[in-house]
Amino acid sequence: MTIETSRVSYGQSELDEAALLEDPLAQVRVWLDEAYAAKLREPNAMALATIDADGAPSLRIVLVRGLDARGVAFYTSYESRKGIAIAHESRVAATIFWAELERQVRLEGRAQRLSDEESDAYFATRPRGHQLGAWASDQSHTVDSRQTIEERMRHFDERFEGEDVPRPHSWGGYVIVPERIEFWQGRPNRIHDRIEYRHAPAGWLRQRLQP
Ligand SMILES: Cc1cc2nc3c(=O)[nH]c(=O)nc-3n(C[C@H](O)[C@H](O)[C@H](O)COP(=O)(O)O)c2cc1C
Repeated sequence: MTIETSRVSYGQSELDEAALLEDPLAQVRVWLDEAYAAKLREPNAMALATIDADGAPSLRIVLVRGLDARGVAFYTSYESRKGIAIAHESRVAATIFWAELERQVRLEGRAQRLSDEESDAYFATRPRGHQLGAWASDQSHTVDSRQTIEERMRHFDERFEGEDVPRPHSWGGYVIVPERIEFWQGRPNRIHDRIEYRHAPAGWLRQRLQP
């Protein structure tokens, strides 16, 4: 099998407008729950695209760590490459693909910083090693060697010995407040189902898109 010849036929499921929830964020929750129920590995892994000050796009994976009526939340360093890009241009796009379920969700909207209280609350749930990692790593910036970061890990481990590790101010969450959300379900003969929701003053407008 090669990239030119491999072909997957889709046909597990279908998207019926009537069966989809009116609130697309609630529908994202349903699909995430189904992905967890299917025991997929990291079903909350999401590709996040940002635009930098020069208008150049950049894409990377982050983990969805919250989902409520506002939107989809993730955590990162505010001083990372993505954090700097978002500070300049809050419009972002995100995609989650669940290969085993033949499903994709696309979101487009604005990234807004979560409150310090929300970021503190999430940071407190992280394992101590992950918390120390947030102190030790100046995410996206260059470093002379791995050893330098490991020394920084030891330094912060000692500094916070016997106490809770506080959240660094440079680390925290964003919520993507979506203006557009699309649900894609693979179907036979590449005639896939695509249902798009667009945010309008009166609420969410829903339409079917050609595959
Ligand atoms: C499966 C997976 C999950 C990841 N989750 C996160 C995350 O939740 N937050 C984060 O900052 N980086 C996460 N990363 C690392 C990012 O992809 C990226 O390398 C990092 O955030 C730096 O990106 P930037 O330089 O564009 O800011 C994850 C990577 C993978 C492969």
